[in-house]
Formats: sequence, C-alpha cells, structure tokens
Amino acid sequence: MKKFLALLLSLALMATLLVGCGGGEKETGKTGDTKKVEDTKKDDTKKDDAKKDDTKEPANSKTVKVGITIYKFDDNFMTLYREELERYFKEELSNDEVTYEVTVVDGKNDQAEQTNQIQTFIADKYDVIIANLVQSSAASTVVNLCKDADIPVIFINREPTAEDLDLWDKVAYVGADARQSGTMQGEIIYDLENHGDLNGDGKVSYVMVIGDPENVDAQYRTEFSIKALTDKGIEVEELVAQRGDWDQAKGQEIVAAALTQYGDQIEVVFCNNDAMALGARQAIEAADRKVGENIYLVGVDALEEVVSYVKSGDITGTVLNDHIGQAHTAADVAVKAVNGEQLEKNYTVDYVKVTK
Ligand code: BGC
Repeated sequence: MKKFLALLLSLALMATLLVGCGGGEKETGKTGDTKKVEDTKKDDTKKDDAKKDDTKEPANSKTVKVGITIYKFDDNFMTLYREELERYFKEELSNDEVTYEVTVVDGKNDQAEQTNQIQTFIADKYDVIIANLVQSSAASTVVNLCKDADIPVIFINREPTAEDLDLWDKVAYVGADARQSGTMQGEIIYDLENHGDLNGDGKVSYVMVIGDPENVDAQYRTEFSIKALTDKGIEVEELVAQRGDWDQAKGQEIVAAALTQYGDQIEVVFCNNDAMALGARQAIEAADRKVGENIYLVGVDALEEVVSYVKSGDITGTVLNDHIGQAHTAADVAVKAVNGEQLEKNYTVDYVKVTK
C-alpha cells in the first residue's frame, strides 16, 4: 500500500513537472493536454496585450507615412492648423495597430520648392500627402505626380479647381466655403444699427485689405462681404482695395496709408483675415480712431488675440475659420485614402460668426 501511494505521488509529481515546463505538446501527445498548453499561451498573449495597452507601445504596429507641406510656416492661421493636424495624427489616430509617422515641411511661399518637397515625399514612398499649396494653380502638376506614383493627395486650405480635383479619384479638397465667411463679414456690418454708415451720407465707404488675389479665399471674401451689403440695398463706396498677403505688417501699412489719405471718410475696414485685422487695429489706434465709435473693423479666422479684441470692442467682429475641424477632417480623409476608401471631392467645414 505504501509502495502504491509512493508510486501515485511520484506519478503526480512527474505530471506537474511536465505541465510546468510548458513545452509539453509533443511530449504528451494528448489533445487534451495540448489544448491546455495553448490556453496558457493565449493567456500569456492576453497579458502581453494588456501590457501594451498600459504602456501604449506601438510594437508590431503598421506605420503609415504622412507627408504634409504647408505653403509657409510664417502664417498665424496655418500654424494653428498644422500643429493641430500633427497632434491629431499622433495623439488621436495612432494606436496599437497603426502609427502615423508625420513629416511637416515649410513650403516657404515658393511653389518650385514645394513641388520638390512633394517629389521627395514620393521618392521616399510616403503613403499619403497633404498639401497646402503655395499656388493653387500648381494642383494639376501635383495631382499628376501623385497619380503616377499612386500616392493619394489631400489638398487643404487653398482650393484647386473642380477640373483639377477630377483628374484622379484619390484626390480631395478639405476646406471651408469662403463665400460664407465673406457673407458673414458683410452681415456683421449690416447688423449694426447704422448698417456701417457712420457719417449718415447714405453709403458705406470702405477699405478692403486682400489676402492674395490668386487664392479663392481672398477672392470670395472680398466679393461676398460687399455683396452681403449690396444685396440688402446698402450703397457702398470702395476707397482702397489692396493686397496684404495675409500678413499683419502689410495690413498695418495699408490701413495706415489709407487713413492718412482718406481720414474720416473711411467707415469700415474689411480684412480678408485676422492677421491683417490685427495690423489694421494698430494703424487705427495710431491714427487716434476708435473702433465702434468712428470706424468699424472686421476680420476672418477668430485668432485668440482677435477674439479678445472683439470682447473689448477694439475689433467689431470676426468669423471663426475652424482650423480644428478642418485639421481633423483632413486627417480623417487622408486615412480613408490610405485605406483605399472612395473619396468625395470636397469636404467643407462651416464658418461661425463672432461678435461681442
Ligand atoms: C486664412 C488666412 C490664411 C490663409 C492661408 C485663410 O483661410 O483665413 O488667415 O493666411 O488661409 O492660405
């Protein structure tokens, strides 16, 4: 009996050792045991996964290379846009399965340089390109380069023509309808008690500070801000319309010169963007004029600084150009393109009126 018990004990010990050493499939040759071993393995894998979740290690994850070129880094609005784009790819879209490796380059306001950057992305086999073109007219060249290499391209901020977008199905545009922002600028002025006619002479005399004439955002904002007034039967008079290249210092120069030349005749200053409105505000202050009392000023973008001037009454109003919504849409569309999903031609994000 003792011997039998001792035998049982040693058999049990051997069995424990076999299972314990974990390499038992072949040794045992029994399906039941194999299953157990596999289960143990699965459990280990689960533990590994849990570890990955904890540490956010992107081990074994697929890498998607995203090449982004911005028309120039030295632009207030596009800086906010590109920072959000990069953050969103890295912090919100990257996960255990896919890591978005994002490269953002400065087009330095030079189309030849930017076209070279796109060619480098292509040579380096990027998976998708996001392009904020220096000149929208370069879109067809860029589409053809990308098409030859079969790399989808998403245009942002500067809208190409419908014909350019039709050149290939892996092309899309993400932006906002600049007609809407222009109309809202005009409405901000129309909604004032005097509809912008400060001196009561029956017409609104204005200065228009233009972004750059090749850009549809500039064209539409210039046209539709005034159309919103004339559509409502308001008479207008253009005193100055000048190109400020979206730039604060140029906005200041243009408005300072206009104030010197036309003085009190100027009732409204329309700026195609907020950077130029910030410059205009400096010129207005330097000329001892007071926004809301003897002049009005509107911009587009809703930069933080401008919103605080709207609150304090130093700028009449602006229009939110939603860089966060546009950045997220651009990234989401780029991901769709990489995944081979069918793209729409245009994705637009709404503007929002901002007044006190
Ligand atoms: C913005 C401007 C910016 C321009 C760049 C416009 O939509 O309102 O602030 O300079 O885009 O293309």
